[in-house]
Amino acid sequence: MPRRVIQFSTGHVGVHALRQIIERPDLELVGVHASSPAKIGQDAADLVGLDEPTGVIATDDLAALVALQADVVVYTTQAETRPAEALAEVCAFLRAGTNVVGSSFVWLLNPTTAPTWLTEPITAACLEGGTSMYVNGIDPGFSGDTLALAALSLTGSATQVRVQEVCDYGSYDDAAFTGVAFGFGSVPGDEPPMMFLPGVLDSIWGPSLQLIAGCLDVEVEEVREFYEPWVATEPIDCTMMRVEPGQTAAVRFGIEGYVGGRPRIVLEHVNRLTAAAGPDWAYPPEGRPGVHRVVVSGSPGVEINTHVGLDGVDHNIGGVVATAARVVNAIDAVCDAAPGMLAVTDLPGSYAGRVVW
Ligand SMILES: NC(=O)c1ccc[n+]([C@@H]2O[C@H](COP(=O)([O-])OP(=O)(O)OC[C@H]3O[C@@H](n4cnc5c(N)ncnc54)[C@H](OP(=O)(O)O)[C@@H]3O)[C@@H](O)[C@H]2O)c1
Repeated sequence: MPRRVIQFSTGHVGVHALRQIIERPDLELVGVHASSPAKIGQDAADLVGLDEPTGVIATDDLAALVALQADVVVYTTQAETRPAEALAEVCAFLRAGTNVVGSSFVWLLNPTTAPTWLTEPITAACLEGGTSMYVNGIDPGFSGDTLALAALSLTGSATQVRVQEVCDYGSYDDAAFTGVAFGFGSVPGDEPPMMFLPGVLDSIWGPSLQLIAGCLDVEVEEVREFYEPWVATEPIDCTMMRVEPGQTAAVRFGIEGYVGGRPRIVLEHVNRLTAAAGPDWAYPPEGRPGVHRVVVSGSPGVEINTHVGLDGVDHNIGGVVATAARVVNAIDAVCDAAPGMLAVTDLPGSYAGRVVW
């Protein structure tokens, strides 16, 4: 019998999760949440550009969605900017017997390091409803957990593991969140962008760093954050904005986990709005526009490059499709798991969804 699924939100990630749910024969779409008045009342098919109506109409009525008693809700709304409301939403589903998978609340990628103001109510809701919750994505997520652990499994001895997203965001249409949070178009020295306030990078990528450390059975003595902007020398026009000379057009940032006084576990981003920006920083191989990469220094030394978006699919669209897939594909494993909060290491080693039919 197909799993009965609700899609919660239809933003960058949500719209792809919704399409995957509609198209997969092992999943039955039973509800869709949308917050914007323009989307409420529309058939789910219209929201993702499919011709055949689903009969499932987008609503902002949380209680009605909870009352559907679906097997699972795919939760991809903007949670970090509205944590209290988002927490209440996921707990309502979990208490009512509906499991949660999602890309939101990136702090929950590793429940053991997540803040207690989140883990305590969520765990209580899971126990009350006999349900589970799992959060993941491509980065943070896949590259800093499954990919890193795959590379480390090929290693005899390692001096460092470095996880990188090196990506040209020039085609990404997200001025409102990514643009503002990363400080693209801002002038270094003005108000620091939200992403680079003290503690924010650690809160987002730290869960992956600590998950790797846990799997390696090492204690991280210190986590250091780093951030460097690169400013444009001439105007740059890209999908999300126009950047004038003197404004930020690329950023390099990340966190380093120190073990034995050295940075042994590093998670790093290089994000540019055009290929010419940040010329001294890392690039993807073979002239590609993006890569999720793990490099293990040691014996034998391992490098794995992941490219999402082939055959004409834009790499930035590939990233959000992959983020949606990463959690939609976990639905069976999460529905079958014992109640509670789950990290990727709690799921079967080779989980995958029914993506071929
Ligand atoms: N780990 C990863 O690799 C990864 C990658 C991408 C994103 N993420 C995470 O996934 C989540 C979604 O990202 P996204 O890029 O899809 O976000 P987004 O497009 O900016 O927003 C997602 C949706 O949230 C809903 N929303 C926004 N403000 C709201 C409000 N005030 N009240 C109620 N709903 C509101 C809207 O839903 P409607 O449009 O349906 O009204 C919006 O489309 C975020 O938590 C993000 O951090 C993770």
